[in-house]
Amino acid sequence: VKAAATASAGDVLVYFKGDNAGLPIDPSGLQLLEPVLAKPQSPDGQVREARENVVTVVRVPMDEMEADIEDMAAGDIVAVSAICSHQGCFVSDVGTFGTAEGKLACTCHGSIFEPRAGGERVAGPAERGLPTLPVTIDGGQLVATGGFTGKVGP
Ligand code: FES
Repeated sequence: VKAAATASAGDVLVYFKGDNAGLPIDPSGLQLLEPVLAKPQSPDGQVREARENVVTVVRVPMDEMEADIEDMAAGDIVAVSAICSHQGCFVSDVGTFGTAEGKLACTCHGSIFEPRAGGERVAGPAERGLPTLPVTIDGGQLVATGGFTGKVGP
């Protein structure tokens, strides 16, 4: 049985890649403006594998966060879709894509998004921002409090 298609309230965010892949993100281990890719795991323990669910989790300077996304952030930690709204490339693959001034860069065609504003489009051919996945910290884990705020991908 496949898990429900999209990220939903109660999902725990787990590492997408690396030695800790599949384990819950440790919020205390997130470095300022160093994005980490994550996938949501449903409350019954199934990782939502569809590519559209991959999110970028990033800690931003609290005093630079846009006020209107504070309710969707876990303190200073923001989660936004990792799928570019232009043509669907991964926007942030740490070590490959990197960031520009702490912004999220899609190197396919150069779209730039602002994590401090919940994934708002800054530049490039993408016409829309990246939807936010609202999160909170619960029991030391990053947990979604709802689904994506908008359409994922192109
Ligand atoms: Fe990201 Fe084109 S797919 S800029």
